[in-house]
Amino acid sequence: MDVDGFLDEILVKIREHLNGTEKVVEYIPQSSLRKTADLNLPLEGLGLDTVMSDIDHYLRYSVKTNHPGFMNPLWGGINIAAFAGEVIATLSNNSMYTYELSPLATLFEQALIRRMCEIVGFGDGNGTLTTGGSNGNMIGMMCARYQVDPLGQQRGFDGEKLVCFVSAESHYSVLMAANVLGIGFDNVIKVPCDEDGRMRCDKLIEEIERSRMNNQIPFCVVATSGTTVRGAFDPIKEIAGICSDQNLWFHVDAAWGGSCLFSAKYRELMDGVELADSICWDAHKMMGVPLVCSAFLIKRPEILRKICSHGNVAHYLFLGDAEDVDLGRISLQCGRRNDALKLFLAWREKGDAGWARLIESYMHLADYLQDKVESNPQLEMMSTRDWTNVCLRFREDGIDKNEINGQIRDRIVKSGRFMVSQSNIGDDVILRPVIANPAVTKLQLDKLVEEIVSTGNDIIRGIPFSE
Ligand SMILES: Cc1ncc(COP(=O)(O)O)c(C=O)c1O
Repeated sequence: MDVDGFLDEILVKIREHLNGTEKVVEYIPQSSLRKTADLNLPLEGLGLDTVMSDIDHYLRYSVKTNHPGFMNPLWGGINIAAFAGEVIATLSNNSMYTYELSPLATLFEQALIRRMCEIVGFGDGNGTLTTGGSNGNMIGMMCARYQVDPLGQQRGFDGEKLVCFVSAESHYSVLMAANVLGIGFDNVIKVPCDEDGRMRCDKLIEEIERSRMNNQIPFCVVATSGTTVRGAFDPIKEIAGICSDQNLWFHVDAAWGGSCLFSAKYRELMDGVELADSICWDAHKMMGVPLVCSAFLIKRPEILRKICSHGNVAHYLFLGDAEDVDLGRISLQCGRRNDALKLFLAWREKGDAGWARLIESYMHLADYLQDKVESNPQLEMMSTRDWTNVCLRFREDGIDKNEINGQIRDRIVKSGRFMVSQSNIGDDVILRPVIANPAVTKLQLDKLVEEIVSTGNDIIRGIPFSE
């Protein structure tokens, strides 16, 4: 196969993949796939024909995240403009560290960051695209650490006394950040939540005071806007007030919920966000931009510049006259993908109003699903709802609810008709469909509810699983 023929074939496969809606996944246990997949890395190359059949094989078993039954993690579907941006960025294969290497992409990224800062309310803010919310949370905490110990980055840190505060339902990436920054898991204080999964401010104050009494050094609070399981939004305004009184850095993890800021109707979920010091916001979640695409935004850009000052020694990259446009000076990465193009193209296609409509349509569908759950006697909502996470479970008297909901999920995934996530709230196993995929419709949600209920009833009756 020559290169032209290969490219033609690839286009056909892309179309087939985009239009194919048969199954979310061709489920196969890893032990079987390991036996049947050709994982051999050859001594002599096998040519493009083999590559084409490898691609077929890969696509066959990959999860179809654009399928209307895909409601599993916090993203899904394909934004075609962003898809084109992803392909073209790979085609041009540049690195974002200097303007010289990525002229227009640099300006795109600056325009995106500026716009996102405006939306957040960081008038003179700046930021960088990162590998995800996990990375954005870590950078936020790194800035916080810099604020409390600016000399540490030169002479090293003793993290043992530093403590930060997060909600008990925050994402695990904060623990990762504590590990990387030398703070330690024990110094991440999990502040209890109220019954809706939001951080309790009275408990936050108690914990800060307790840590000061124990001679620890509080340095940062991380609030979550859109928790992973329940989609809860911590009370930002109140937390900002506490951080200001206590002189603590305030970072907002809006990896999941940040997109509410587009909508006049839902923006109030993040009321007060302009009072934060930094925020992360994933475009690769609700905005549907292909992974990865995430922004870290900071109100006082000089601190980001300081924590990235390691780049100042790179005389082979950064030349004096391009100081303000070489994005490598405000990034932890050296070689960095162009994630700006896809977001820029998607934004040009949709505009702020298009993003707002998308978010509001997702909320509308989530309301619809909640209504369906609440009106079905065999289902129950397991949490209040702020966002598009719909936490539910199947119920039946006299049956172990955790056991049966785990089994329902297992069968549903294996059937290939739907993929929803299984999580825990307290001791309860729940099912958590999220709406973050433009292919999801009301009809699909009707079918999901039917599928959960009929699968639960099959299990009760002892009917074995069949596709
Ligand atoms: C609340 C929250 N924060 C952070 C993250 C991590 O984001 P990423 O996967 O982009 O690193 C997630 C991921 O689901 C999340 O739900």
